[in-house]
Amino acid sequence: MIVLGGTASNGIDERLSKIIGAKLVKVEHKVFPDGESYIRMPSSLAGEEVILVQTTQPPQDKNLIELFLTIEAIKDVGATKVTAVVPYLAYSRQDRRFLDGEAISVKTILNLIHSLGASTFITVEPHHPESLSYFPGEVKVVDPLPSLAREIAKVVKRPFVLGPDRGAAGRAERLARELNCDFSYLEKERDRRTGEIKVRGVGLPSLKGFDVILVDDIVSTGGTLLEASKIAYSLGAESVNVVAAHMLLVNGALQKLKQANVKEIIGSNSVVPKERVNLVDISDQIAVKL
Ligand code: R5P
Repeated sequence: MIVLGGTASNGIDERLSKIIGAKLVKVEHKVFPDGESYIRMPSSLAGEEVILVQTTQPPQDKNLIELFLTIEAIKDVGATKVTAVVPYLAYSRQDRRFLDGEAISVKTILNLIHSLGASTFITVEPHHPESLSYFPGEVKVVDPLPSLAREIAKVVKRPFVLGPDRGAAGRAERLARELNCDFSYLEKERDRRTGEIKVRGVGLPSLKGFDVILVDDIVSTGGTLLEASKIAYSLGAESVNVVAAHMLLVNGALQKLKQANVKEIIGSNSVVPKERVNLVDISDQIAVKL
């Protein structure tokens, strides 16, 4: 068995190879002056089972193309099996047709990963786990919440978990179970054409004295959690904190959250954003799925 480090592996490839005692090989790659990616397998993979680690954090399209090129190359050079470990799965939020005629992006991505040669797919905290059924092979899901809970538990005294929308209710419940505390969730509406969001709290208890932990799968622009943090503070929260699996942190998200007095921001290393935040390593949780 060989662990193959892709062009975006965030060190997870190195840790996985140590944990499972498999040889680590790194793909050779470069980018041509016109922006096209070049990928080469530096050693023979013939007859091997290969675990490829390639996340699809920003720049998503580049990392996806490099994922596709790598999977097919692994198969072409004679590997017997490819397991694609994609800690952050880009395009996962477009998992249905919200407006007529839209591409169901996650379906395309998962079909491509499979048809290029990966028979097993492993990812961390998918946006909607049901959408992984678009992958025709074996699927394994890594739950980062226990590790994230241990980290946030170090800094909060009276936790209360709040999901920013109905879709996050299950996630909020899971995190609350880890922290042995109560949870609730907000209501979010998104204008499907402009992308504008409205978040509101309905029937929430007073949060006076509580350290509120907002939990989401992805923090992108920070807009959702900014609105959620305002609601939490307006209900008397002692502090507001953020726990999320995938910290994309684009368009000044970190600054926005800090300005809104969000205290702790904890994510996983499925994505390593440009700005520094506390990231928990999820290699151990991935290793148990192999
Ligand atoms: C959407 O439903 C997701 O779960 C996240 O809430 C969303 O992607 C966060 O995006 P942003 O940080 O841009 O509000």
